[in-house]
Amino acid sequence: MHGNNDSEGLTQAVIEKVSGAADPRVAQTGAALIRHLHAFIRDVRPTQEEWEAGIAFLTDTGHMCDDKRQEFILLSDALGVSMLVDAINHGDDPVATESTVFGPFYHPTEEWPQGADISGTMTGTPLFVSGRVLDNRGNPLAGAVVDVWHADDQGFYDVQMERLEGKDAGRAWFRTDGEGRFHFWTIRPSPYPIPNDGPVGKMLAAQGRHPFRPAHVHFMIQSDGYRKLVTHLFEEGSPYLDSDVVFGVKSSLICEFTEHQGGVAPDNRRMDGEWRSLNHDFILTPIADAA
Ligand code: BEZ
Ligand code: FE
Repeated sequence: MHGNNDSEGLTQAVIEKVSGAADPRVAQTGAALIRHLHAFIRDVRPTQEEWEAGIAFLTDTGHMCDDKRQEFILLSDALGVSMLVDAINHGDDPVATESTVFGPFYHPTEEWPQGADISGTMTGTPLFVSGRVLDNRGNPLAGAVVDVWHADDQGFYDVQMERLEGKDAGRAWFRTDGEGRFHFWTIRPSPYPIPNDGPVGKMLAAQGRHPFRPAHVHFMIQSDGYRKLVTHLFEEGSPYLDSDVVFGVKSSLICEFTEHQGGVAPDNRRMDGEWRSLNHDFILTPIADAA
């Protein structure tokens, strides 16, 4: 066939092929993929060399992935796709705490008792974190699991520090008490760059973008019968709140990390020098409401 490569006929022929899938969702997504991918190629009109560079970029992204590094999710994060999927699947409960990206630095850890200091070998300004877990009618959720993880004052997670040899620092989970409360000590995290030594880092540089996220603490909260909440609390006033590289900031998640000098903390600990406190209530959606 010596036809016009740019013809709509080619696109139609491929759409017809993929639309024959037995699973209607596979047929639908296949057709949409071809429609948008062909429209992208028509828009950009890549040279043969540019097409090769695109294939090489995706190949490098795959090669960067192993059991510790997921470069494709990082690519999804940096292109705003993760937050778009989040927006499509959450946000239907106006009362519930808003969700945001999960990120690559979670790993399952141990339960810690209320009030514990989870900073381990991390250094930084002491941070007292407290709050409640409630349902969207204001009822406390006792026994909810509150997972937390965050970076240190240099912007590193424990999993990025080889010297820790797999020991946890700045991560733990707690069970809420009978009034849905939790509290613990850790250190104040700092802003940090997402892993930028791979293809995603090269892409950001080529796009003239910085790789930073504003200071935050991650939370994942689960209670039977409620939709799992994956979110962060961002520090008010942190650099990069307006330019988070993964577009994860929502204004309802920006909190005061209140500054204190000495005195007595809420758990009666006597403090020397600067420390911070963060108090926030999390609201979960019953699965019955979300259905
Ligand atoms: C994080 O906050 O841990 C994170 C989220 C998305 C990409 C990289 C890091
Ligand atoms: Fe993070």
